[in-house]
Amino acid sequence: MDPATKKPLISQQSDNNSFQNPNSSSARSPSIALIAFSASFAFFFFFFFVLSPVNQIDTSARRLVNPVVILISSDGFRFGYQYKTHTPNIHRLIKNGTVAELGLIPVFPTLTFPNHYSIVTGLYPPYHGIINNYFTDPVSGDKFNMGSHEPKWWLGEPLWETVVNHGFKAATYFWPGSEVTKGNWDCPSYYCQSYNGSVPFQDRVDTVLSYFDLPSSEIPVFITLYFEEPDHQGHQVGPDDPQITQAVAHVDRMIGRLIDGLEQRGVFEDVTVIMVGDHGMVGTCDEKLIFLNDLAPWIPIPSDWVYSYTPLLAIRPPSGYDLADVVGKMNDALQSGKVDNGEYLKVYLKEELPERLHYSASDRIPPIIGLVAEGYKIELKNSKRQECGGAHGYDNAYFSMRTIFIGHGPQFARGRVVPSFENVQIYNIITSIIKIQGASNNGTDSFPNSILLPTL
Ligand SMILES: *[C@@H]1O[C@H](CO)[C@@H](O)[C@H](O)[C@H]1NC(C)=O
Ligand SMILES: *[C@@H]1O[C@H](CO)[C@@H](O)[C@H](O)[C@H]1NC(C)=O
Ligand SMILES: *[C@@H]1O[C@H](CO)[C@@H](O)[C@H](O)[C@H]1NC(C)=O
Ligand SMILES: [Zn+2]
Repeated sequence: MDPATKKPLISQQSDNNSFQNPNSSSARSPSIALIAFSASFAFFFFFFFVLSPVNQIDTSARRLVNPVVILISSDGFRFGYQYKTHTPNIHRLIKNGTVAELGLIPVFPTLTFPNHYSIVTGLYPPYHGIINNYFTDPVSGDKFNMGSHEPKWWLGEPLWETVVNHGFKAATYFWPGSEVTKGNWDCPSYYCQSYNGSVPFQDRVDTVLSYFDLPSSEIPVFITLYFEEPDHQGHQVGPDDPQITQAVAHVDRMIGRLIDGLEQRGVFEDVTVIMVGDHGMVGTCDEKLIFLNDLAPWIPIPSDWVYSYTPLLAIRPPSGYDLADVVGKMNDALQSGKVDNGEYLKVYLKEELPERLHYSASDRIPPIIGLVAEGYKIELKNSKRQECGGAHGYDNAYFSMRTIFIGHGPQFARGRVVPSFENVQIYNIITSIIKIQGASNNGTDSFPNSILLPTL
């Protein structure tokens, strides 16, 4: 018998026998519970009365055998939403954890799939391949969308793959890319959920908690948990609507459910919980529009050149066009004073985009990219719709695109505030906590030392 594998059972037995926990979604028969109970009792006896001095309570017996990281994403959780309403559970993490002072900086474009995959690979989008939520491969003509699970699209090495490469278990309760079979990661059904946005958030939390009822060698060391809110409401009603407040409160209740479940199992202080979002949100309204058809007197832009309109304008003219000439004519039009809101859009050859955006080193990125000002939208022609809502995808320099970072656990100082950083640093933070060698990426090697406490 490997004593190490039995430690969590002691913890469960002495704190709260999770085999009897009605919230546990892993239903087990009474006889298995009895065997497990007896085995753990036998070990408890062996450990405390044979190996340890009788009068000394060994608190290390309550620790998990390996460091465990739960990475939570709340989609579209704009920095500042944590102050929209009473969020006691998120504030428990903040108060006793480490936060990014003015939020977590997303990668450009500030869209869901590029950012979630940057968080788990540490790579800027051109290097991990997911350069937009949808795009076309210029060589094969194949189209990527958010349901594409073929490995050819998903470059780099996501954390779940790094973790299983080191012989540990990883679990994903939804995350873009998690269902893609790559390397040693084969998305095993017990540990890897297929995306279904209808699954209630509390079921997701309960499944994550149930992993802590497993024998310790089966407990994943890295677990993802994803919530679609408050992004969903943000698009429909914009960031200042009461519906956002409700969505934030809902996410807060789920964080509370997770904390409670971890506490019941006696592991809350030992597990690292990292809460992030993928991007922020800004209000949009239909007076802030730019129509590409208005550019026609300088250069007509047919819709089949346009691979993405807004907020990320991406254009690929057919071969034979002089790209620099197209860019020049578009900017002439936009700066002419004769195109409505033209001054709020600037068009670039992708190689000439500001370096800080890291948005050129992939064939998948169309050669002409437009950067539109915060809150503006680009359309082909005026559809005379009147609607207000919210959007993201803009330049990651806008504060409205920022999201949150909270780290809580043994290696995060309590009540510490660190300067804001880009989400490509998260991969190295997590491999450092789990103590595994990660793949090379765009995070800085020294970053984990600047944000993490040394291990005891
Ligand atoms: C923060 O940590 C301290 C020390 O472990 C603990 O006593 C306190 O209850 C924690 N506070 C919250 C809000 O969890
Ligand atoms: C998605 O989840 C809902 C709620 O749990 C469930 O009723 C439905 O059957 C699921 N759909 C699929 C395709 O599994
Ligand atoms: C990002 O990381 C990849 C993989 O290590 C590397 O090829 C690329 O040069 C890096 N790019 C930047 C801008 O650091
Ligand atoms: Zn998103």
